[in-house]
Amino acid sequence: MSKMEVKTSLLDGMIGVGDMVLLEPLTEESFINNLKKRFDHNEIYTYIGSVVISMNPYKNLPIYTPDKVEEYRNRNFYELSPHIYALSDEAYRSLRDQDKDQCILITGESGAGKTEASKLVMSYVAAVCGKGQEVNKVKEQLLQSNPVLEAFGNAKTVRNDNSSRFGKYMDIEFDFKGDPIGGVISNYLLEKSRVVKQPRGERNFHIFYQLLSGASEDTLKKLKLDRDFSKYNYLSLDSATVNGLDDAANFRTVRNAMQIVGFMEDEVQSVLELVAAVLKLGNIEFKPESRTNGFDESRVKDKNDLKEMCELLGIDQSVLERAFSFRTVEARSDKVATTLNVAQAYYARDALAKNLYSRLFSWLVNRINESIKAQTKTRKKVMGVLDIYGFEIFEDNSFEQFIINYCNEKLQQIFIELTLREEQEEYIREGIEWTNIEYFNNAIICDLIENNQNGILAMLDEECLRPGTVTDETFLDKLNTICAEHLHFESRQSKNSKFLTDHTLPHNCFRIQHYAGKVLYRVEGFVDKNNDLLYRDLSQAMYKANHSIMRALFPDGNPAKINLKRPPTAGFQFRASVATLMKNLQTKNPNYIRCIKPNDKKSAHIFTDSLVCHQARYLGLMENVRVRRAGYAFRQPYELCLLRYKMMCKQTWPHWSGPAREGVEVLLSNLAVSPEEYSYGRSKVFIRNPRTLFFLEEKRRSCLEDLATLIQKIYRGWKCRTHFLLLKKSQVVVAAWYRRYAQQKKYQKIKSATLVMQSFIRGWKARKILRELKYQKRCEEAATTIAAFWHGTQVRREYRKFFRAHAGRKIYEFTIQRIIQKYFLGLKKTMPSMSPVDKTWPVRSYQFLDGTHKELRRIFHLWRCKKYRSQFTQEKKAIYEEKLQASEIFKDKKALYPSSVSQPFKGDYLEINKNPKYQKLNSMVEEKILLADVVNKINRANGKGAPRLFLLTKNNFVLADQKTGQVKASVPLPDLSSVSVSTQTDGFFALKLKEGTTSAAKGDFLLSSDHLIEIITKLQRTGAAAAGRDHINVDISDEFLVQFKQDKVCVKFIQSGLKNGSSAACKRKNNRLLEVSVPSP
Ligand SMILES: Nc1ncnc2c1ncn2[C@@H]1O[C@H](COP(=O)(O)OP(=O)(O)OP(=O)(O)O)[C@@H](O)[C@H]1O
Ligand SMILES: [Mg+2]
Repeated sequence: MSKMEVKTSLLDGMIGVGDMVLLEPLTEESFINNLKKRFDHNEIYTYIGSVVISMNPYKNLPIYTPDKVEEYRNRNFYELSPHIYALSDEAYRSLRDQDKDQCILITGESGAGKTEASKLVMSYVAAVCGKGQEVNKVKEQLLQSNPVLEAFGNAKTVRNDNSSRFGKYMDIEFDFKGDPIGGVISNYLLEKSRVVKQPRGERNFHIFYQLLSGASEDTLKKLKLDRDFSKYNYLSLDSATVNGLDDAANFRTVRNAMQIVGFMEDEVQSVLELVAAVLKLGNIEFKPESRTNGFDESRVKDKNDLKEMCELLGIDQSVLERAFSFRTVEARSDKVATTLNVAQAYYARDALAKNLYSRLFSWLVNRINESIKAQTKTRKKVMGVLDIYGFEIFEDNSFEQFIINYCNEKLQQIFIELTLREEQEEYIREGIEWTNIEYFNNAIICDLIENNQNGILAMLDEECLRPGTVTDETFLDKLNTICAEHLHFESRQSKNSKFLTDHTLPHNCFRIQHYAGKVLYRVEGFVDKNNDLLYRDLSQAMYKANHSIMRALFPDGNPAKINLKRPPTAGFQFRASVATLMKNLQTKNPNYIRCIKPNDKKSAHIFTDSLVCHQARYLGLMENVRVRRAGYAFRQPYELCLLRYKMMCKQTWPHWSGPAREGVEVLLSNLAVSPEEYSYGRSKVFIRNPRTLFFLEEKRRSCLEDLATLIQKIYRGWKCRTHFLLLKKSQVVVAAWYRRYAQQKKYQKIKSATLVMQSFIRGWKARKILRELKYQKRCEEAATTIAAFWHGTQVRREYRKFFRAHAGRKIYEFTIQRIIQKYFLGLKKTMPSMSPVDKTWPVRSYQFLDGTHKELRRIFHLWRCKKYRSQFTQEKKAIYEEKLQASEIFKDKKALYPSSVSQPFKGDYLEINKNPKYQKLNSMVEEKILLADVVNKINRANGKGAPRLFLLTKNNFVLADQKTGQVKASVPLPDLSSVSVSTQTDGFFALKLKEGTTSAAKGDFLLSSDHLIEIITKLQRTGAAAAGRDHINVDISDEFLVQFKQDKVCVKFIQSGLKNGSSAACKRKNNRLLEVSVPSP
């Protein structure tokens, strides 16, 4: 709700007026019309200030949902439309937050909805108060006490199918947080006469019917009951079943509720036994039996019911039977038994049934109290809910109505007192001067009834206790005397004879002018009902019963406590309990719910004006409004008032910056409201007349209309302007876009025209240039063509001869290249091993590569040899060098050579160092011995060979005796001129010395050796080195000359026919010839 929208339920969107205080004009008619209007719109609640008037809708309205509970929770009383929840919330919050004990007084005619209202209040409080396991249990117990009490205390009447036949006041107790912790129930005056007799169209208490319909066969058997209602005298049959009431289901609900409240299973059983006993009691009938003294004595007709009843309650049958026939009268210390006639026996029976039932009811209330009483002793906050019978005006009013109306009279009194007090307190709180209020105070009526000296109840008691004959008539006489002058008492025979001619007033009646109307009471039964007699024999019999709760119900039957004093009368008891109740209520903050029933037909849509008017009257509602309006009809805190009406004055609209009160003052003075019409309190403004309020409201409404128009105007202006601006903006955008588009189009046109022109010009230019270029090109091309033709001719002429040869060569070269490639690749794959002696070589693949193939083989071999050689050590290299040299000297020159190739050059064949035989020789030859071997020295004389040791050193060669080792000749190598050998396979060689040297004196040496090749090779190497020459000549020929001293001898080699294997032989042919025959190879 916006701040401006201060909603007060009383003024906004109301059907009629939500608060009767604002009713203008206030007449009974307008009052009823307002109620009717609201009722027709299902608005069943209306306020009179803080009092709630509740119309019974007789239908279920969707206004008690959890959502509604939430809606009314923590809201101000006048904030929402009138509702019983608003009152409940106000009461609960005031209790919880301000620590004020509350009482909720619900009054109204039978069927007006009091009990429903009380349940609504309780359920609302249960819904909004704290939660928790313990709290919920307490709540549940408090709520479940209702079905139990309703079963035993409610009955169907002509006015209400579930009419409470007792008054109930329940204190719900809360802890400091506002969580319920328990409760206490007080009950008032159960209508016990209903147990034995029900008016036409009515029923006995619900429990009887519930038990018979709902109990199991087993239970019924135990209780000795029959399901058939018609078997019981106490149950009226004409409305045994009620539409919309399911007795069987309700019985289960009651049992369940009893269990929740805390009744033990055996307690429930005992209670049901008592109920059954009452039914049985009703069936006991009596017959007269004549006695000798002429009186009739009553006797029980059929003892079966009596027996069963006694069995149920554990009573000695004979004792009870006797109690129905005799009555013990105790006068001082004497006991006299008087007989009872049949009528008295019936009276006694019914009295017993009534007492039994009403005491059972009180016991139930106490038992429930025991269960629901608060466990803690700490201070409690209390909310009392009073659901009491409302004011009753029947055609035939008796003692009960008198009592009930007295109670209502008292409630009205307390209402007036408290309302005025509240009003007064508010005035004082607000600092408003208190003006005396004219209203009707009913204290005078209360006094008429309850005054201790001459009150009607006191006189009734007096009559009842008075010795002598006491009848209802004597009682009326007494009233006629004593109350004659009272303004509110009317009687035909009253002493002042005011009503002697009033035929509406029968003789056996008196009339009281209650605050709510005149009521005519018939005195018949007053004395009896006030006495409420139960013969002591009966109470004693009950006391003796062997039953768990009977003794507690009849403490007056205890013979040990015989009290000769009469028990207090019903009137006295009631007066006392009402006094206590009033005292209790006075300490609490009252909240009123006044229930009204709209029709007598229990119908949802009928509003009977006369009936409502009647109720409004006796509920004193008009009185109520008047009291409320006595001072000021309406009040509102300054803030709210300012907020609601500030739009009516320029200074306060739209914002008032000062204090709210000043704002209201400015507002009211501005509106020229007459100063008597309002008063300024401390926090509220008080308005005396509803008219003024309506004036304000009317003004506000028109102001709001103006404001609405203003807002509309501004809004429309704003909207149009915004729209216009938007259009303008759009137009600019559209124009801009269009201009751009148009320019673009224009530009495109110019551009394309230019392009066309450009292209034409360019085309023309280009074509011109093209033509020139083409001409040029043609010229060039012509020249080129001519030149080309010319060159072509020339070249062709020149190269014609080459063309084919050239191609052939190319093909040839290519083929060759390919073949060579292929050849090399093939060769690569089939290469022989790296061994130099490996003779293999791949087969030549192409004839024309023969030379290359061979050359490659050679190169490969050389390369392989080189590789092979590169592995050699120095010594081995020397050896091979020697071998090479040997090859150079002898290869293909001497036939012996090939056989020597495989023989390694050992050098020292004699192992001269190691052999001791040659030690001397060794020592003589100082230099290192390069070669030592045995050779044959050919004797020139015979050509025979003699073995000699041949040693070669670096500078000499030495010949020594083989046996002795004696040096025969030592020749320095420079003296050696040449060496001669044959071409044959022999081992002969001649060492020729230089002429003129000392060595040459003895002549040359002709020697033969197996190691000729090695000896000659080494000799040549060493000799050349020693002599500083290139080489020593080696002559290879089959004839050479050898110088022996002076002679020169020719050595000739001839091939003998001998085969290889035999050695060569030398023979002296003559002086000049030595012939060597060499075996043929
Ligand atoms: N607020 C309500 N909404 C719907 N139905 C309602 C409401 N109040 C009362 N009634 C109906 O009216 C019937 C009578 O109401 P209730 O028993 O509360 O009357 P009462 O004032 O307690 O009467 P009595 O004085 O006889 O006990 C209820 O059984 C119910 O059907
Ligand atoms: Mg009721």
